Amino acid sequence: MGAGKRLPEVIIKDQIESTNHLAKRLLQEGFDGEAIIIAKAQTRGQGRFGRNWHSPEGGLYMSIILRGSELPANYALYGFALANAALKVIEEITDLSVHIKWPNDLLVSGRKLGGILSELVTENGNRFHVILGIGINVNTRIEEFPLELQSISTSLLHETAKQVDMDAIAAGIFNNLTDFLDKDPSLETVVSIYKRNCITLGSSVIVEDGNRKIQGKAIDVLDTGTLLLEDMNGVKMLVSVGDIIHLEEDV
Ligand code: BTN
Repeated sequence: MGAGKRLPEVIIKDQIESTNHLAKRLLQEGFDGEAIIIAKAQTRGQGRFGRNWHSPEGGLYMSIILRGSELPANYALYGFALANAALKVIEEITDLSVHIKWPNDLLVSGRKLGGILSELVTENGNRFHVILGIGINVNTRIEEFPLELQSISTSLLHETAKQVDMDAIAAGIFNNLTDFLDKDPSLETVVSIYKRNCITLGSSVIVEDGNRKIQGKAIDVLDTGTLLLEDMNGVKMLVSVGDIIHLEEDV
C-alpha cells in the first residue's frame, strides 16, 4: 500500500466548505503533489452517506491527499490505517481510551469523537489518488452541538476538561500514518492492528444497510475490510458498507 516518500504541501484555511471538497478540486485542477489541508471551521463539512459533518471552530478538520498509481485493491484499508494512527496519537496525547467502531468512527466512552471520510479520485481513469478526510472534536464544546447530537457525541475538551493541542494531534496523525504507510505494510498488518482497536468485534449490533436492518454479532473483520456478522440463527453474512448501532448491553 506504500506510496513512496512524501513531502506534502500544507494548506491551512480559516474557514472553507469542506477540506475534502478542496482536496478534490485541487486534484481536478491538476495538483500533482501530496497535501494536508486543514480548516479551522467548515461550512459544509461532509460525513459518510452524504451527511452533514458539524464543523464549528475548535474541531480538527483535515484531509490528506495520497497520490497513487493504479487502482488500490483495498482502498478501504487506508481508512483503517488512518483510524489506527488517530487512535494511537489521541491516546498518547490525552491518556484517554479510544476505540474504533466499524468501519471508522472514533469513540470515547461509547460516544462519537471523530469520523473518517475516504474518497477515491481518478485521473483519466488510469491513475487513482486517495483523499483521507478526518474530523475530530478536539476543543469543541458539546453544548454547542445540535441537540440531537449532544448525547451521542463527545470531544477531547469534554473528556479531559482541558484544551488539547490541536496542532500536535494533526501533525502526530499525519506523521504516524505516513511513517506506517512508508513501511509498505501488508493488509494483514493493517487489519490486525485495527482489530485490536475495534470495539465492534464481539459486540451485538444492528446493521442498517439501505432498507434492511440486520441484527447479529460482529465476529470478524476480513482483510478486505468487510465485517462478518452472525445472526441469531447462526447465519453468517458479510457487510461491506453500512451504518452500525452497537446494542446497549455491549457499550
Ligand atoms: C463520518 O461521517 O463519520 C465521517 C466524517 C468526516 C469528516 C471530515 S472533516 C474533514 C473532512 N472534510 C469533510 O468535509 N469531511 C471530512
